Amino acid sequence: MKGVVLAGGLGTRLYPLTKITNKHLLPVYNKPMIYYPIQTLVNAGIEEIMIVTGGNSAGDFLRLLGNGKDFGLKHLNYTYQEGEGGIADALRLVEHFADDDLICVILGDNIIEGNIIKAKQDYEQQGKGAKILLKKVPDPERFGVPELDGERIVRIEEKPKKPKSDYAVTGIYFYDSRVFDIIKTLKPSDRGELEITDVNNRYIEWGEMTWSELEGWWTDAGTFDSLLRASNLVAKTGANNLDMKAG
Ligand code: DAU
Repeated sequence: MKGVVLAGGLGTRLYPLTKITNKHLLPVYNKPMIYYPIQTLVNAGIEEIMIVTGGNSAGDFLRLLGNGKDFGLKHLNYTYQEGEGGIADALRLVEHFADDDLICVILGDNIIEGNIIKAKQDYEQQGKGAKILLKKVPDPERFGVPELDGERIVRIEEKPKKPKSDYAVTGIYFYDSRVFDIIKTLKPSDRGELEITDVNNRYIEWGEMTWSELEGWWTDAGTFDSLLRASNLVAKTGANNLDMKAG
C-alpha cells in the first residue's frame, strides 16, 4: 500500500499565520505539523509516500523533509496543487503515483495519538472499495458526519447544521484505484471545492465502504482553537505512540 499526505490549500482559516508560510509547516508543540501525518503512515508500515503541497512556501517542504531521513525513509515524492480546489482535487494529482495500488490518504492537518496499522491490515484484507475511520467528537458540525443505520453508514454530510450522529469522519481514508475515476466525475461544491465527502458517498452507494473507530485522541489543526488543542495534546501525551527524533 502507498501513502499520500495532502498538504495543499491556502489555510485561510489561520490567516495571518499562513500569510507567508504554509499551514503544514506551522509548529504543533515541538514539530512542524506535517511531521505527524507522515509519522502516522510510517508507523503503519507504509514507506512509499507522496506529499501533495501547494500555496505558499512549497519549496520549504523539500528543505524541511528532504528524502525523509528523519522518518527512516529512503525517498519522499512531492507534487504541487495549483490553487485550492479541494481535498479531492489534491488527491487527483497522485493517480500516476498510486499506479493501481491501494492507497492510504491522510490530511496534512490531522494528528493522532495512536496507530492505524490494524485498520490498514483490515483494509488490505478487504482488498477493494474504501475504508474510513470515525471518531466521536463534541462538535461534529465542523466535519464530515456519517448517518448510521446500526453499523452501516447510510450517507455522509459535509459540515451539517444538524449532525445525524456525534461521529466525525477523520481525515484518514483508504481507497482503491477507482477513486480516481470517481474524482473525474465530481462537480465543485457550494464552497467551490471537489469534496472528499462526495467521493466517500459514491463508495457508500456502491456498498463498498467500511469503517472502524479510531483509538486514542484525534484532532485537526486547521483553526486557531484546534491548532492550540493539537499542541496541548502532543505536549501532554505525545503523538503517534512514539517520541520522534528531532530534525
Ligand atoms: O479533518 C477532517 C475533515 O477534513 C473531514 O471531516 C471533512 O469531511 C473534510 O472535508 C475535511 O474538512 P476541512 O474543511 O477541515 O478541510 P480543510 O479545508 O481544512 O483541509 C484539510 C486538509 O486537506 C488541509 O490541511 C490540506 C488538505 N487540502 C485541502 C484543500 C481545501 C489540500 O491538500 N488541498 C485543498 O485544496
